[in-house]
Amino acid sequence: MLNYLPLLLFLSFFCFTSLAAKGPYALRISCGARKDIRTPPTKTLWYKDFAYTGGIPANATRPSYISPPLSTLRYFPLSEGPENCYNIHRVPNGHYLVRIFYGLVEDPNFDNEPLFDISVEGTLVDSLNTGWSNQDDENVFTETIVFLTDGTLSLCFHSTGHGNPAILSIEIQQIDDKAYDFGPHFGKGSMLKTVKRLSCGQGRPKFGEDYGGDPWGGDRFWNSLKTFGQSSDKAISVESRIKKSSIAPNFYPQGLYQSALISTDVEPELTITLDVEPNSNYSIWFHFAEIDPSITKAGERVFNILINGDVVFKAVDIVSLSGDVKTALVLNTTVAIDGQTLTINLQPKNEGHATITAIEVFRVITVEAKTSADEVSALQSIKKALQLPRRIGWNGDPCVPQQHPWNGADCRFDSAKRRWYIDGLGLDNQGLHGYLPNDISKLSHLQSINLSGNSIRGSIPPSMGNIKTLKILDFSYNFLNGSVPETLGQLHSLKILNLNGNKLSGRIPASLGERLLHRASFNFTDNAGLCGMPGLRTCGPHLSTGAKVGIVLSACLVLLLIVGCLFVWWKRRQNILRAQRLAGREAPYAKRRTQFSRDVQMTIHNQGARTASENGPILLS
Ligand SMILES: *[C@@H]1O[C@H](CO)[C@@H](O)[C@H](O)[C@H]1NC(C)=O
Ligand SMILES: *[C@@H]1O[C@H](CO)[C@@H](O)[C@H](O)[C@H]1NC(C)=O
Ligand SMILES: *[C@@H]1O[C@H](CO)[C@@H](O)[C@H](O)[C@H]1NC(C)=O
Ligand SMILES: *[C@@H]1O[C@H](CO)[C@@H](O)[C@H](O)[C@H]1NC(C)=O
Ligand SMILES: *[C@@H]1O[C@H](CO)[C@@H](O)[C@H](O)[C@H]1NC(C)=O
Ligand SMILES: *[C@@H]1O[C@H](CO)[C@@H](O)[C@H](O)[C@H]1NC(C)=O
Repeated sequence: MLNYLPLLLFLSFFCFTSLAAKGPYALRISCGARKDIRTPPTKTLWYKDFAYTGGIPANATRPSYISPPLSTLRYFPLSEGPENCYNIHRVPNGHYLVRIFYGLVEDPNFDNEPLFDISVEGTLVDSLNTGWSNQDDENVFTETIVFLTDGTLSLCFHSTGHGNPAILSIEIQQIDDKAYDFGPHFGKGSMLKTVKRLSCGQGRPKFGEDYGGDPWGGDRFWNSLKTFGQSSDKAISVESRIKKSSIAPNFYPQGLYQSALISTDVEPELTITLDVEPNSNYSIWFHFAEIDPSITKAGERVFNILINGDVVFKAVDIVSLSGDVKTALVLNTTVAIDGQTLTINLQPKNEGHATITAIEVFRVITVEAKTSADEVSALQSIKKALQLPRRIGWNGDPCVPQQHPWNGADCRFDSAKRRWYIDGLGLDNQGLHGYLPNDISKLSHLQSINLSGNSIRGSIPPSMGNIKTLKILDFSYNFLNGSVPETLGQLHSLKILNLNGNKLSGRIPASLGERLLHRASFNFTDNAGLCGMPGLRTCGPHLSTGAKVGIVLSACLVLLLIVGCLFVWWKRRQNILRAQRLAGREAPYAKRRTQFSRDVQMTIHNQGARTASENGPILLS
């Protein structure tokens, strides 16, 4: 063992260093692409399309110059189902920045600009509005910051009946676990959706990589804000080093802090107003660095920060808070917004001027609870066994986002367990084929199931008897065969059982018959050969297992007896035959003896019948 120690040490050192050198996990997909692509200027690698549940690849029109330079996309017409997803597996658990760019299908016959909903890990994060493709640059993508805990990232696109969702690219970039820690509600129960990221005083929008940013920063997109309006401010910039930039946990690039906007005497306050979704919480991040050469020490610039009229930071002094000039300062706050606007206001004190470097605004979104894993796997088995057509969908999570549950699935939330359960399943008249899988019983909260009017074959799984909550079971008008499982008798809540119009046969379990007395409604008509219910033919005599064993045993006994008798008869016959054969060989003697005995008898008779009977039989030998 000792001999291996240096090798082990070397190996562990090697592993550690190679892991450390690997940096954050990053994956980029060029949707609709048939091969991997590297895009200029940074030779970013985009994998060819994979992990999608359906859809059609097509050539793309990029709606904005900030879109990655990719030429294909994947779109999802309704025939591919109302929801389609990218399910990306083997993503290490961690904190991620996830960005999805949209495209427009390059085809003159297409109604451009589809409107659809986007969910990340089952949580609705965006709904595209009319005009998204020709407004601000931020509208051509959705970006979220989310914790992934189950090794899989699920991104889904939900049709809303306005065109076909079309996805240009997907980027998944790991960031620091503490990045964008916005306070008490930060963690696995919430995610951030980027509303705006503004770099003040910059000439043009930039990505983190344009700034030479650290990969742990997640290649953020910074839109440019040249002015707050009407020359009320002026842009300044420097080339000098900015202290405390590019540090954990957010790794804001140094370049971000090398420009800023400063208010002027025309309008000493800086004000920015954004349209937001009402009744949401917003996390707002302010970036500062004192790069104005006229400010050299603490106390020379002091201002208040207000949001919708409320002071959120009082007497902000950049030099004092950051420790020096040309030093990055990040402040964050979370506010609840009732209305549709978010107004940020920087109010200088002592007739000074306000300044700002950058602003980030995120909507705080509560992560949806998911559907019980057992029930999801049961639905997956059903999807497979019933050969669900694509148009029905069934991708992503069955119950969330709550706005887009699966076709035919009724969901119920258990707030104690923070899980969704399937309450009802209605896939009647859907042209389904296939059979019912045994797994169906894993839907253990099901109260109602209606698969009426399909072409389902095979038998009713006996495991159905385990779904104790079942009240309504309608399998009418299919091609189910075999018998009605005895186990259905265990369904004590069952009120409606429609098995009419199938090919079922055999006896209906007596336990179900008893239920009719309790005002349940059962229909067994139109089947191949069901018996044992009023209105159906009567079955043959019903025998218990004991009786059946008895019958078999007695039948065996009778058979044995017959065989025994036959044997005895055959043996006797053999004896007689042998005797006859012997008799044939010694015929004269035998004849003589027979004749003799008859003569003797006759003699006796003639002497007096009475004597003979009184003296008993005469022995002849
Ligand atoms: C997409 O564009 C390429 C050329 O860039 C062309 O060869 C191909 O036929 C186009 N595909 C479709 C579906 O229009
Ligand atoms: C953001 O502010 C909260 C307090 O509101 C604080 O707990 C948190 O550490 C701040 N995050 C960063 C990254 O500075
Ligand atoms: C906003 O946050 C508060 C707690 O800080 C929470 O009680 C409230 O439900 C949140 N509102 C929304 C819409 O998420
Ligand atoms: C099941 O669906 C069929 C067809 O849509 C409908 O006629 C029937 O009433 C439903 N069954 C129950 C028990 O609701
Ligand atoms: C039921 O039908 C299937 C074919 O659909 C057949 O394989 C099976 O043997 C049938 N079972 C019974 C009990 O008739
Ligand atoms: C049972 O089903 C048959 C058709 O298979 C229908 O004619 C009949 O009305 C149904 N009976 C009840 C009580 O619903």
